[in-house]
Parts: sequence; C-alpha cells; structure tokens
Amino acid sequence: MRKLKELKTGKAKRLYTTDDPAVLWVEYLDQATALNGKRKEQIAAKGALNNQIDCLIFDYLMANQIPTDFIRQVSATEQLIHPVKMIPLEVVVRNLASGSFQRKFATDYLQLLTKPLIEFFYKSDQLDDPFMNDAQAEALGIATADELAAIKQLALRINQLLQVRFAQAELTLVDFKIEVGYLEGQLVLADEISPDSCRLVDATTQASLDKDVFRKHTGDLTTVYQEVLTRLENSEVAH
Ligand code: C5P
Repeated sequence: MRKLKELKTGKAKRLYTTDDPAVLWVEYLDQATALNGKRKEQIAAKGALNNQIDCLIFDYLMANQIPTDFIRQVSATEQLIHPVKMIPLEVVVRNLASGSFQRKFATDYLQLLTKPLIEFFYKSDQLDDPFMNDAQAEALGIATADELAAIKQLALRINQLLQVRFAQAELTLVDFKIEVGYLEGQLVLADEISPDSCRLVDATTQASLDKDVFRKHTGDLTTVYQEVLTRLENSEVAH
C-alpha cells in the first residue's frame, strides 16, 4: 500500500489517495482548532494521540458489529480507511448536559438527561454548522425519514458501546459527535471518535479530559489526551 496524492486537508486530518481506489490514507495532524477553525494552534503529539485513540475505539466498535469505514492503523499518526459517500450531518449524542445544549437551555453543568438525546447539525463551515431538525433534513434532501431513523439507531447503539468502554477507563461519556455515510450501500460510521469529538469527564472527580481544556483554556491538551489513551490501553478487555 502506497500513499499517493493529497486529496484534502481538514482541520485535524489530511487525506491521501493510495494505489488502491478502495483505500484512502489518513494522517492525523498536530493541529487543534476551536470556534469552527477561527482559532488554530499547533500542538505536538496531538495527531498521534488522536489517531491511536480513534483506532482503539474503532477496533472496539467493529468487534461489536458496528459497521465503519476503518481498515487499520499504519503508524502512530496514520490509518487506512475506505472512501465513503458522506451524509453532511454532524450527529451529536448527549447523555449529560454540557456545551451548546447547556448554554441553550441554561441547565446545570452535567445535568443528567432523562434519556440519551440526538441532535443533528448541518455540516457547513460557511454556516457554522447550524442545528437541523428531521423535517429540515428531509426537506433539503439530506436524508429520508427512514435514513434518519437508521442514523439514530446506529448512533444510540454506538453510545451504549462507548459508555461501557469509557466506563472501564473510569471515564464518563458526556456527549460526542459522529459522522456517517454509505459504503457499498451500507450505512457506516465514518470520520473519527477522539477527545476532539467527545466530552469525557473523570468518573470520580468530573475533571474534563477532552478538547474542552483547549476550548476553555483550562488545561494542557496533550496531557489530558495522553491520560485518555493510557486509561483506555490499561483497561483493554476481551470483547
Ligand atoms: O458544542 P456542542 O455541545 O454542541 O458539542 C457536542 C459534542 O459534539 C461535543 O462532544 C463536541 O466535542 C462535539 N462536536 C464536534 N465537532 C463540532 C461540534 C461539536 O466534534 N463541529
């Protein structure tokens, strides 16, 4: 497998073609962004930490029958994936109130929601990823009602599995964002799952162990991402 030409560079990853049209090469970058890319910083080791956490999580989800675009890790900062026809939605699952939900409804921080909540955001940097309800997604032809139901079912199953896996690492999963798309006609989990896209708090102290430390300037990103990776590695269990 050879890395060929650069396809695109996103906020935290660079994508390359390979000599196999069914395989893309992903490089995780040492770059952190906030405010939809308006604030950008180079952070040493971030790419390797996120790639390793993402590979570990995707391996776990696939071992639990979640269909994904993931193939395998190739180096500390790189992995191989299948090309996917992406659905332009950010699918957010929340277990406890934080972030934009906490601000919108003025809840207590980490207020327990009566059941896991799914929210859709339209993926558009230009529009700052606006909230989108089911009717809007259907009206704009982004997904049908059946597709939205399948996306929610997949997101809720991923939430159950992630809650269990993070709890083994003494971490509480507050919320997370996934992206999905089609691979050979099948709805699959794509993109990444890492502390960039999840909110995680220590199960006992409730200290933030995710990108909130960068967003809020409350801690060192590399230190907390390393803590998440170490805890996940040390709590690796048979599936
Ligand atoms: O900011 P908000 O509370 O809506 O974020 C919910 C979850 O989605 C958080 O875990 C956050 O890290 C993630 N997210 C993301 N990418 C975005 C927006 C939110 O990964 N563009």
